[in-house]
Amino acid sequence: MYSERRRRLAEAMAAGVAVIPTAPERVRNRDTHFPYRFDSHFYYLSGFPEPDAALVIVAGSAPKSLLFCRSRDEEREIWDGYRYGPEAARERFGFDEAHPIGKLDEALAQLLQDSPALFYPLGADAHWDARAMSWLNAVRARARAGVAAPDRVHDVRALIDDMRLVKDAHELSVMRRAARIAAGAHRRAMQATRPGRNEYEIEAELLHEFRRSGAQFPAYWPIVAGGPNACVLHYVFNNAPLRGGELLLIDAGCELDGYASDVTRSFPVNGRFSAAQRDTYEVVLAAQLAAIGKVRAGNAWNEPHDAAVRVLAQGMLDLKLLSGTLDEVLEKEAYKRFYMHRTGHWLGLDVHDAGDYKRSGKWRSLAPGMVLTVEPGLYIRAADDVPEPLHDIGIRIEDDVLVTEGGCEVITAEAPKRIEDIEALMRDARARD
Ligand code: GLY
Ligand code: MN
Ligand code: MN
Repeated sequence: MYSERRRRLAEAMAAGVAVIPTAPERVRNRDTHFPYRFDSHFYYLSGFPEPDAALVIVAGSAPKSLLFCRSRDEEREIWDGYRYGPEAARERFGFDEAHPIGKLDEALAQLLQDSPALFYPLGADAHWDARAMSWLNAVRARARAGVAAPDRVHDVRALIDDMRLVKDAHELSVMRRAARIAAGAHRRAMQATRPGRNEYEIEAELLHEFRRSGAQFPAYWPIVAGGPNACVLHYVFNNAPLRGGELLLIDAGCELDGYASDVTRSFPVNGRFSAAQRDTYEVVLAAQLAAIGKVRAGNAWNEPHDAAVRVLAQGMLDLKLLSGTLDEVLEKEAYKRFYMHRTGHWLGLDVHDAGDYKRSGKWRSLAPGMVLTVEPGLYIRAADDVPEPLHDIGIRIEDDVLVTEGGCEVITAEAPKRIEDIEALMRDARARD
């Protein structure tokens, strides 16, 4: 699988040498590190999980792929655990060659001789930029020996992004599992929510469910936002008490074997939607269903967003949040006061995954194998010109959706979103108290 991806990248490059380093380890504070996470492009092409590694792909008539990684080290392995070392890594991950990472500069000065182009993540990291220039200069310094240096430098990410946009069978099976785990965590959160509990207690339920299900990380820090906090789009504090009568917005997904899920549900803390909450919720749900209805192969990227905006804008008029006609609200973008973000993004190894949304000025067409989120919302801050019952209602409903030949598949469907399903789940959980 990984060597096939490397072969496809070499084909897309046609000629030249690509260098794709993985992410560095990052210090959190003295002697402690953030949990290590590999670079997504590197991992997509290698499956290799260790830090201090770089992938080199030589394209042309005899393509080959080389891994540079840490050597075995008995002393370090006592402290930090097993590392593959070049020999085992080459065999296990199917490289043509593998070498110690310390040999990278020397190897590139050789490999780039008479090569037409260097591909690497241009501008992603100042240290790697300087290193790439040093390889080019090392080759240039040998010009009088009749050696030619590459005269083109490309951003390799453009080629990999295009490959990553359409998921293969292996990726889809991991993403389906990540989606199911996230859906399970949302159900667990709904079951655990009671007035008087704190947002962080519900956060703990989410993290518990992720980890016990085998997910390595949350895909991003969960947003657990009660009442007015739901109107803060990137709320991160998760430390307020939950009150009966308020809604709770939870945006939480896990990372499983590198792949993200990204799910939002909004539900009442006391398990029963009030009339105003219900009316607002139904608008967002209708917008989400309208958007999902537009997810099909051949449709343009913006069609789901436009469908959601239309339903939301009409809802804002019906709820008396705005006045005027639907056309005016759309034309003047007055809806942006209550719906200020876009309706989705690509999803994959990164939560906001790789891939362009526009090509030559035109929205991209959806194709089978693409995975995106559909996540409309309404965020109604208290204000004098807003009907009182709607004050501080924040709602978002987010699912992960796979584009198929005939339409789409909502891979996070196991997280309930119909009002009656949410209320029934919460009622059953309370009955067991
Ligand atoms: N949780 C990140 C997002 O919804 O885009
Ligand atoms: Mn989200
Ligand atoms: Mn999202």
